[in-house]
Amino acid sequence: MTRFRIPFVRPYIPLGAYDRIRQVLDSGWLTTGPVTEALEQLLQEKTGARAVLCTSSCTAALFLALNWWGIGPEDEVIVPVYTYCATANVVVHCGGRLRLVDVRSADATIDLDRLMEALTPRTRAILCVDVFGMPALYPELMERLQEWGRQKFVPRTERQERLGRPLVIADAAHSLGGWLAGKPVGQWADFTAFSFHAVKNVTSGEGGALCIHLPSPFDNSAIRQELKILALHGQTTDARKKWVEGKWRYDVVAHGWKMNMPDLLAALAYESLRVYEKEILSERKRQFTYYSRVLQEELGGRVCVPLVQDVNPLRESAYHVYALRLVGWRSGQRDALIARLAEDGIQANVHFVPLSGLTAFRRMGFRPEDFPVAWRFFEEEISLPVYPGLTKEEQDYVLERLIHHVRQMG
Ligand SMILES: Cc1ncc(COP(=O)(O)O)c(C=O)c1O
Repeated sequence: MTRFRIPFVRPYIPLGAYDRIRQVLDSGWLTTGPVTEALEQLLQEKTGARAVLCTSSCTAALFLALNWWGIGPEDEVIVPVYTYCATANVVVHCGGRLRLVDVRSADATIDLDRLMEALTPRTRAILCVDVFGMPALYPELMERLQEWGRQKFVPRTERQERLGRPLVIADAAHSLGGWLAGKPVGQWADFTAFSFHAVKNVTSGEGGALCIHLPSPFDNSAIRQELKILALHGQTTDARKKWVEGKWRYDVVAHGWKMNMPDLLAALAYESLRVYEKEILSERKRQFTYYSRVLQEELGGRVCVPLVQDVNPLRESAYHVYALRLVGWRSGQRDALIARLAEDGIQANVHFVPLSGLTAFRRMGFRPEDFPVAWRFFEEEISLPVYPGLTKEEQDYVLERLIHHVRQMG
């Protein structure tokens, strides 16, 4: 018998969610409607993005953005190799050509020098990933990309000509609530996609949102409306508007998809987002800081604790994944540590197998040895439980067992 059973994630259900969900159930309207709209508004207030559309997932949001930009077989899209497969799968779904780029050893976000080397006249979009919650280096990326765009970007559509550089999309599945140089995540890229999947900081079980923040003269509200139609089969009148007596008529103006968020799920995300800073983010930050302080004191150079704040440029994580690095370890050794922790009743995790190590991407010709920084990061990485509701005693137990095993095995 172990002292505790500590799962990797326990979803946080704020008190207000029960009433809000009951209200939706009682209202007779379960799919996209006023609660989804309220969630969009709250996200817009919190991120400062020019427009927000809720979707069925982060993957759907990423896909919609790429599709709106016109990505197809003639286009290359750059993606960091250290991410979840969703970031790259959407490029394949659009028929675009995937270009993978290695990451920075410091925080596993995309390496800007490598990214600049990977640009070609056919590069039409870049997907950055705020992996673990730390925003990628957008200010420098935007500056370098503007300069490159002026000289080398070859637009293929009128939209692309207007922007004059590749589109930048932030995969912010991990970074809702993160900050960079005084501005929240949501305002840094042309599009920013959030995830409300069950393990994320703010969840609706499944769900996502797209912040639309293109520079002038793009009309972000009009783009939102266009994407909203595409996210519902291309239908000009949504289900709720059709529900009004006598208002049944609709048209379908494009072959859209089914990617809308229902009110029933939005209710949970809305209540979580309302209390996010106070009840969720602050607690995650406290736990991150505590892990890092103790691990640094006890294990020193044997581990590399995650970068939670960075002074150059000033960045703050959304404290999503506590990604500890076991310096110099191989993945087999790390896996043995995970097995020992499991025997102690502690569920640890690994984020991520780089795309270059996954069958579907190897079949496309990508190889781990071509992205050595990501591979090293992966071999050394172990993710520890962090969530509101993880008690001090539980966290101390995780630390005690981890430190014990690392000293024995390292
Ligand atoms: C980095 C990253 N991007 C995208 C996704 C996809 O999110 P969703 O499940 O909401 O589509 C995930 C999900 O885990 C993720 O970790």
